Amino acid sequence: MGYTTQDVHNKVKKLLYSLTGITLSDNKDIMISNRIDKLKRNCRYSGDIMDLLSSVEQGSYVTEFINSFTTNKTHFFREDFHFVDLKDRVLPSFANSGTKINMYCSASSTGEEPYSMAMTVLKAMEDLGKNINASIIATDIDTNVLQYAADGIYRYSKSSKEFPEWIKPQKYFKRRVQKNLAGEEVLIKVNDELKRMITFHVMNLNDSSYPFSQNQFDVIFCRNVLIYFSAEDQNKILKKLFKHLKIGGTLYLGHSENPQDLVHYVRRVGQNIFVKEKEIN
Ligand SMILES: C[S@@+](CC[C@H](N)C(=O)[O-])C[C@H]1O[C@@H](n2cnc3c(N)ncnc32)[C@H](O)[C@@H]1O
Repeated sequence: MGYTTQDVHNKVKKLLYSLTGITLSDNKDIMISNRIDKLKRNCRYSGDIMDLLSSVEQGSYVTEFINSFTTNKTHFFREDFHFVDLKDRVLPSFANSGTKINMYCSASSTGEEPYSMAMTVLKAMEDLGKNINASIIATDIDTNVLQYAADGIYRYSKSSKEFPEWIKPQKYFKRRVQKNLAGEEVLIKVNDELKRMITFHVMNLNDSSYPFSQNQFDVIFCRNVLIYFSAEDQNKILKKLFKHLKIGGTLYLGHSENPQDLVHYVRRVGQNIFVKEKEIN
């Protein structure tokens, strides 16, 4: 073979960085080995791993490579205080003015986050007794999770605490009959009202620019994705996203993420909740 495990891991890291911007730290050896197995399965490949990585370098199996190395952990109403803020602070003015609210979910994974945004809109409409015209663009780099999100079918157990008490899942999902699920788990499918609000697209946050217009969005969710990037690259992504946020618009970040250089251009209004005050000069 003529190479070590470390050589393979170094090549994986280099490729992953160039294709996605994701930086894998030095203590990720077990994870990298597991993901290499996943990559081989996804490509139905049983040959030499270095040859497979060279193929990726030359443009083959790129999607399989990216999909194997992303981490997609998510759940409905993760950090639910962000959705409470959206419902109570942001949405009422759109209900009152009738102005359309444009929202962006920048790392939507399997869809739980954008569907939680959509459920929050419907709940605000119900509470306020007014219509809200909302659209949500949801993107991710991983094509598998985007397909899962577009299908909108999830496992649900009544005893799980995934939904906050102010959301009644039966209002937003249809139950699907399915045998062979463990215990009290059932499959649920998002209803059409929720689906109509969201469009899913593949997009790489590491691209040099994004396909949106300046100040397009009133709300941007960028949560639990920056953690996979170096501080320098986090800053670059945040600055690119910021261009597309309106002044007065809200940026939601994940629990261990911070606005970096944007701190001079935003006002903090809650835990990892920032309102854009001015453009970057
Ligand atoms: C841990 S999940 C977070 C999902 C959701 N935002 C949440 O907070 O629950 C991170 C997601 O970021 C996506 N991702 C990683 N690198 C990306 C990139 N360069 N561009 C777009 N999405 C990326 C992954 O595919 C994954 O689905």
